[in-house]
Amino acid sequence: MFELKTARAESKSAFYQELGAQARSLLHAEHNLIANAANFSALLYHALPDVNWVGFYFLKDGELVVGPFQGKPACVRIALGKGVCGTAAVKRETIVVPDVNQFPGHIFCDAASLSEVAVPLVKDGNLLGVLDIDSLKLARFDEQDRISLEKLAAIFLEALR
Ligand code: SME
Repeated sequence: MFELKTARAESKSAFYQELGAQARSLLHAEHNLIANAANFSALLYHALPDVNWVGFYFLKDGELVVGPFQGKPACVRIALGKGVCGTAAVKRETIVVPDVNQFPGHIFCDAASLSEVAVPLVKDGNLLGVLDIDSLKLARFDEQDRISLEKLAAIFLEALR
C-alpha cells in the first residue's frame, strides 16, 4: 500500500523533496502513460495543500484532450494557444496565473478556481501535453512551486518509455 508521507515535511523544500521521492517510487517501475498519469495526479492532488484540480491534457491531433485527473469533471478539449493550458503548450513554458480572472482567455472549467499553474510536458523535443493544477486560493503558486512542479513533471516524463 502506498503511504503519503509529505504531511510531516518541515519546510516547502523538504515537502517537495519528499514528494519527488514519492513520485519516483510510485512511477519508476511502470511505463504506461495512462497508469502513471492517473497515479501521479492522485499523488499530487492528495499531497499538495489547497488544490482543487490536478490533471493532464494530452496533445492529440493538434489539440489538447483531457487525460487522467483528480477533481471535478473538466473541459474536454482545449485548442493550442487557448486558455492557460493551450498557452503553456504553445510556449512550452510553465504559466503561473495568480488570479485567473486577470488572465485573458482563461477557460473556466470550475468557476470556483482562482489561481492556476500549467506545466508543459516535453519529452525528447516532443510536446506531450500539459500538467494543470488549480486552486481555490488566489496566488496559490509561487516561484518555488513552479520550479518544484517542473521537477515533478520531469520525474513523470522520465518514467515513460
Ligand atoms: N483553466 C484551464 C482549463 C483547464 S481546467 O482549469 C481543469 C485553462 O484556462 O486552460
